[in-house]
Amino acid sequence: MTSRREFLEIASGAVAGVALASAGADAAPKAQPPAKLPAAGVAPGAHPVRDLPFQPAKLTGLSAAMIASHHANNYGGAVKNLNKVELELAKVTKDTPGFQVSSLRERELTYTNSMILHEHYFGNLGGDGRLAGVIDKRLAAQFGSTARWEELFRATALSLGGGSGWVILDLNYATGDLRIYGTSGHSQSVAFGQPLLVLDMFEHAYAMDHGAAHAKYVDAFFQNIAYGEVDRRLARADGALQALRA
Ligand SMILES: [Fe+2]
Repeated sequence: MTSRREFLEIASGAVAGVALASAGADAAPKAQPPAKLPAAGVAPGAHPVRDLPFQPAKLTGLSAAMIASHHANNYGGAVKNLNKVELELAKVTKDTPGFQVSSLRERELTYTNSMILHEHYFGNLGGDGRLAGVIDKRLAAQFGSTARWEELFRATALSLGGGSGWVILDLNYATGDLRIYGTSGHSQSVAFGQPLLVLDMFEHAYAMDHGAAHAKYVDAFFQNIAYGEVDRRLARADGALQALRA
């Protein structure tokens, strides 16, 4: 099984995936041990479906069945579709009709962001929900208090209830500070940021357990946040920000 650290490194782009020698258009790549360095990136059509970095049965208020379905069908589906789209894009020539190219590019972005955001979402679950570490202090400094930050994050989540979308706490590299973003689709994320904490607000993330009661799902999400991993993402983003400012 992919370790939490490996999963998160892959999710953040710090470690490249491994291309499968036998992956065809319909073959879902198996989870692979990550390469130590992103030397060659990921070959077109070879994105692997990563294992969950936690035991689903150990979560509070989120059933193992729902998490497993979410992981296999929604996240796994996005990865498989991304691989198919990338293989189709590899066939594009100067003679390919523009409407086909634009459609493929749109799907590429949707599935790419869905893959990335799902990997961050699953990666920041499996904890005890206790806010601690550098992220604790940074949230308080940025938003006035951690209670205020949580109020804003929860309000953004609840605003998406009954629909679809993501709530993302980002380190925005353009501003150099922490920002909360709410989006109604996979491809509406801030263009130059590091996701620190990601909440999936698509109905598939909660309806099986909570029906339309999305507020209960948001409560459960907060009980399972792995803030240690959020802290690790922040440390990595701070390092990148320093490099960008150098
Ligand atoms: Fe999802």
